[in-house]
Amino acid sequence: MTTERPDAGWSVRSPGRVNLIGEHTDYNDGFVLPAAIDLELRLTVIPSGDRRVGVTLASSAETASFDLDDIGSPGHGWIDYVAGVANVLQAAGHRLTGVRAVLESRLPMAAGLSSSAALELAAAWMLLGPGGPEAAGIDRLALARLCQGAENDYVGVSCGLMDQFAVSCGEAGAALLLDCRSLAWRPVALPLDELALVVIDSGSRRTVRTSEYNERRRRCERGVAILAGRGLPVTSLRDVTVADLEAAADALGDETLQRCRHVVEENGRVLEVVKALEAGDVAALGTLFAASHASLRDLYEVSSPALDALVDIATRTPGVVAARMTGAGFGGCTVNLVERDAVARLETAVSDRYQPLTGLEAHVLRVEPADGVGWAVD
Ligand code: GLA
Repeated sequence: MTTERPDAGWSVRSPGRVNLIGEHTDYNDGFVLPAAIDLELRLTVIPSGDRRVGVTLASSAETASFDLDDIGSPGHGWIDYVAGVANVLQAAGHRLTGVRAVLESRLPMAAGLSSSAALELAAAWMLLGPGGPEAAGIDRLALARLCQGAENDYVGVSCGLMDQFAVSCGEAGAALLLDCRSLAWRPVALPLDELALVVIDSGSRRTVRTSEYNERRRRCERGVAILAGRGLPVTSLRDVTVADLEAAADALGDETLQRCRHVVEENGRVLEVVKALEAGDVAALGTLFAASHASLRDLYEVSSPALDALVDIATRTPGVVAARMTGAGFGGCTVNLVERDAVARLETAVSDRYQPLTGLEAHVLRVEPADGVGWAVD
């Protein structure tokens, strides 16, 4: 996928991602099943010969920039994702040079489709220059980890690896099963002849509530510390069973118990979904997606009335096989597997019922699993 681009200028395409299942499991050493999607952003880049990195948004002509020799602290804008990546690449010993770039996007921003990870990976390819990561000796998984480091340490979101991994390693036609402990992964084909992958944007832009996201992560770590303190040989929730949690219920307390239970059970559901996909068991997919959504709503408490309404509308629509919220939650999108001839019916159901229930406008987006970040060749 890494074709050499001419020095005069180059263009990077970087996809969003949708997670089929495995929510809030990545930072607990668990399993995830995301796919990169064909909604993408593009950076068109020219080298500047100086030490500045400047990016202009095609939609508004807003420009932001920073100096590679004095990156400074994050300013809480979109350029932080680019600056954070420059920071980690330089810290890892890569010699970067200045560029000017234009950013265009078909990927809804801040909608839970990983526009930030898409920008981070695009920035990494842009900053590493025409030879790309390959010439710099960085493979796709390693680059995802560097970008995750940028988001954790520079931007300040304690995210797991899922988003950067999916954007970097995506494969057309497939979801990717990642074991976030061993980092082993493999593509899992989706039955796309029969089913469409449909993302519904709830129109609610509450995005990454950084403090609540980071709080959920700390709560999981606290659960592990309590169990380890009782002598269990556990270093993450990956080592924990529901029976372990129930035996320590008093020590954990209700809230920690329910957060941890979500993670432990969600890991099991990821593996069950992979089995169901491989066996062509469509009915099981519906049950597992429904259980995941209920758990995120009731145990992890990261859903929202808008997301619940979308899942409810989808679930009542004949031909919708599976529906759940996707991503961090607190707004954003749902993911749906829909019989191909039922997509129009789902669109009608959403346009008739969602706005009266929520006062919001939803967007139904039919997407295809896509290749990960790379040079744009058209
Ligand atoms: C966000 C984070 C991911 C993951 C999901 C929830 O997208 O960036 O690392 O934790 O939330 O599954």
